[in-house]
This record gives sequence, C-alpha cells and structure tokens, in this order.
Amino acid sequence: MSANLNQTNIEIDDPNFQQAFSQLQGNILKGHGRDHSRHVFFSFVGDSTANRQWLAQISNQVTSTLEQQNQQQRFKEKNEIHLFTNLMLSCHGYKQLGIEQEKWPSDKAFQAGMKDLTTPFDTLPRGDHNPTANPLNDDLEQWENGFLRQIDGMVLLALGGIDSAQAEQQLEQEVQKLQASMAGVAEVVFVQKGHVMRNDKQQVIEHFGFVDGVSNPKFLFSELNEEFKNGGYSRNDPSAPLNTVMVPDPGGNADSFGTYVVYRKLQQNIKGFWDRLDILANTLSENSPTNVDAEYAGALCVGRFKDGTPISEQGNDGWSNLFNNFNYDDDADGLKCPFHSHARKTNPRGDTVRQFNSPPTIERSRRIVRRGISFGSTDLAPNKEWTDAGLLFISLQADIVDQFIFMQNTWCNNEGFVRQGTGMDPLVGQAKKGQPPAAQKWPTSWGSPNAEQVDFSFSGFVKTLGGEYFFMPSLQFLRSLSA
Ligand code: HEM
Repeated sequence: MSANLNQTNIEIDDPNFQQAFSQLQGNILKGHGRDHSRHVFFSFVGDSTANRQWLAQISNQVTSTLEQQNQQQRFKEKNEIHLFTNLMLSCHGYKQLGIEQEKWPSDKAFQAGMKDLTTPFDTLPRGDHNPTANPLNDDLEQWENGFLRQIDGMVLLALGGIDSAQAEQQLEQEVQKLQASMAGVAEVVFVQKGHVMRNDKQQVIEHFGFVDGVSNPKFLFSELNEEFKNGGYSRNDPSAPLNTVMVPDPGGNADSFGTYVVYRKLQQNIKGFWDRLDILANTLSENSPTNVDAEYAGALCVGRFKDGTPISEQGNDGWSNLFNNFNYDDDADGLKCPFHSHARKTNPRGDTVRQFNSPPTIERSRRIVRRGISFGSTDLAPNKEWTDAGLLFISLQADIVDQFIFMQNTWCNNEGFVRQGTGMDPLVGQAKKGQPPAAQKWPTSWGSPNAEQVDFSFSGFVKTLGGEYFFMPSLQFLRSLSA
C-alpha cells in the first residue's frame, strides 16, 4: 500500500510506509541528532551523463529514513557511530543533470532560486492576492561570495556521539573523500562548518544564548509522546500531517517522496543584541513599577526565556517551565508575550483565528520543520559586534512559498501582523533596504491591561549572508540516474 500523507502520529516501522521510508532521506521526519556537520556546496562541471552517474554513485552514501532509525538503534545498543548524509539539489542542479522540466520539483521559489529578487510571489493570506518580488527583503550586497556563485547542490555530512576533535577530524576526511569522488564532474563551491552549542543542561542553544529547537511539528507517535514529559499537549498539539513536509518526488515512482529545503546563513550580532537589550531594559524600568533586566527584555524579544520558558506562562509563584504546551488564549492582547516576539510571530498559536477568523488549519499549515545548526565562534559574550557567529538556518517544508516565505514575509517582516502597529520580529525581521523599521510596542508590566506600552525600536541584529532553495529528492530518483 502506498503512503497516505494526510496521516500523522505514525511510526517509522509502520508497514504501510516501509517502501516510502526506504527511499525518503533521513533528517526530515526526525532530526539526525549529530552535533557536528559540514555543508558541502557544489556546482557541476561535467556533462549531464557524468553528473548523473556521480550522483547515482554517491546516493549509496545518503541516509534513508529507515537507515537513520537503524543507526539510532545501533548507537543506543552498541554505541556504533555512523556518518549521516543528506543530498539536495537546486533547480539549476536539475538543469545541469539534463532532467526534463516536467520532472523538476514545481515549487515556484525553488525554480526561481533564492538569488532571484524579481519573480513575484503571492505572500498574502489566501484569497487576497498581490504578488510581491523579493518577499524576504534580501540584499545581495550583504551576501558572501560563495552564495553568489552558482550552487547546484549540497551534501550535508554529520557526525556525533564521539569526542568533538575526533568528529571534526573525521568530517574533514569525509569532505576530502567526497571532493575526490567529484573529480571532473563537480567542484566544491565552499564548505560550511556547523556545530551544536549546548547549555549546562546539555540543551541546544543558539548564539544569543537561548534554548533552541524546542517547538517543531511532530510526525512520529514516539516524538509526540516525548512532549508528554514537557507538560503534555492539551494546550498545543504539535502533531502535523506528513504533507507538512513531504511531497511526491516528480522524478520517482509512487512511493518516492522528497522535501523542499530553505538554507540561510544568518549572522548574529551578539554584542549589539545584548547592548540594545540593556537599553530596552532601562527604558522599560523607567516606565514600570518594577525593575527589569536584559534577560527579561530578551524574553520579550524571543517569546521565551533563555532556559526555554515561554514568557506568557509566568505564574504568581514564579516562571513555569511548560516548554511547548501553551497557547496565547489567556493573552489575547499580547500583554504577557508581545505580538512581535519571535516565537509568537513564527507560531501565533491561534492569534490569526482570533484576529482574522481564519481557520486554525490554515495557521497550522504554515509550520516549518527546523533543522538548523550554529556556526562560528562559541564565544557567547564577544567584545566586538558582528563576530563570526550565527545560525545555519535550515527549514524543511512541502511548499516554500506558503510556509517559509509566508512566515518570513507576512508574519516576521510585516509590521502590521498580527495587529496594526505590532512592529516586526525583533530577532529576524528583515526591513526593506533604506526603510528603517518602526518601533515595536513593549508592555511595561507583565499581563497588566492598564500598564503603559513603550515604543522602542529593536531590529537588525541578524544579517542574511546568503542561502539557496533546494529539493531533497528520494533515493529512488537518485539511483535511477545511473540508467
Ligand atoms: C539567527 C536567527 C534565529 C534565531 C537566533 C532564532 C531563535 C529561536 C529561538 C530561541 C526560538 C525559541 C525556541 C524554540 O521553540 O525552538 C525559536 C523558535 C522558532 N523560530 Fe527561530 N530563530 C532564528 C531564525 C528563524 C527564522 C529565519 C525563522 C523563520 C522565518 C524562524 C522560525 C522559528 C519558528 C517556527 C520557531 C518555533 C515557534 C513556536 O513554535 O513556538 N526562526 N527561534
């Protein structure tokens, strides 16, 4: 029986999905979990036959969903270490392989590529169409040279479970092996290193110091069960149908699926961010009966405290630690968690239902699967601005325009979302070049309807250094290229 993508809460060993999962790449339904990675961006230089044969050959190294599960089991039982590999192609990559156009993945953004700032995209909510070009407000002048070159594909290599130095050394060797296999067919455009950073509780953090990767759509029953440990799912259901992230692979057979990948290298200005938070905290304290500090101001920006606690969940007896089982039903006016905060902009948890009478299924269909990893220095308190530090943002989705682009454009960058005067996402909102964003409104007292709201402009501490849209095809498609 072939896979039904409307389903959720399935298991990897579900008999109906064995064919599909033997061909679906890993890291889609569940993160690969390794702490060290290399992203090897390449462009083809050979003829299309040679290009195809090389891809078919390295597809043997690509980790399927089933194999990822087996590797995880063997790691648990015998501490066996396995290299994890994903392979993805840009639309230009499909062209270089000589694939007929009707077999290209059809997403409009994928076909245009991220460097294209002229193709218009429909980024307004359904039924209100007004296509806009450059919906992300990207500025190619800020991009690193590597991303400005032609990128045909990327191989993601990841290792974990061993000593960091050993993992790094082994990954270097794997990159060299990959590069050697490409001779005469493709050249490495550049290699991006990534590494997970952790706090003292071993939770994953990003460079501003906040716990990251907490809230993600869940496809597997076992993962949903894990949420139970963090307070259950009575107030937020993280489960999502497979078609949030899986699409039929146009180059494969009935059981071949793939996903669209958004890759963005986002540099973080750690010193600038915390200096500005100090000023925000002082401004709020001057207008508030209580003193607030930069950590609290940071939670207003992110929507969560550094330890992951949602800011909307403050009780009389201190901060709760519910992690993901929350919504904004008790905070309909954004007095606890500001509407503009990053976590609320990117997952409004019912705000669009309250504000626009929009069906909850539409809001939920915008969700993306985040599989990013940090890059650069591990110094979280540098004394210089714009150090080599940031996030290699990777999101997976079934539709780049309706999910990632919609989220960044219509929610994060939109000063009128979810209400007029909300302001942009202070963390990742990207303003149009030469148009300074308006100030956001910040509550001076937590949850108090009579408290003053202070205008304060907070933005510009994350810069896009480049990126690309990819498709991560089925193994069946990759293997068929040898024919
Ligand atoms: C350097 C850039 C970024 C940083 C530092 C960052 C940081 C964070 C943090 C700390 C959280 C809260 C913890 C969690 O739920 O995982 C979060 C959540 C999230 N972020 Fe980001 N993020 C960045 C970029 C982005 C971008 C570009 C998007 C998409 C446009 C995005 C989408 C999301 C989503 C969907 C959530 C989960 C919200 C929820 O379900 O509650 N992030 N991010």
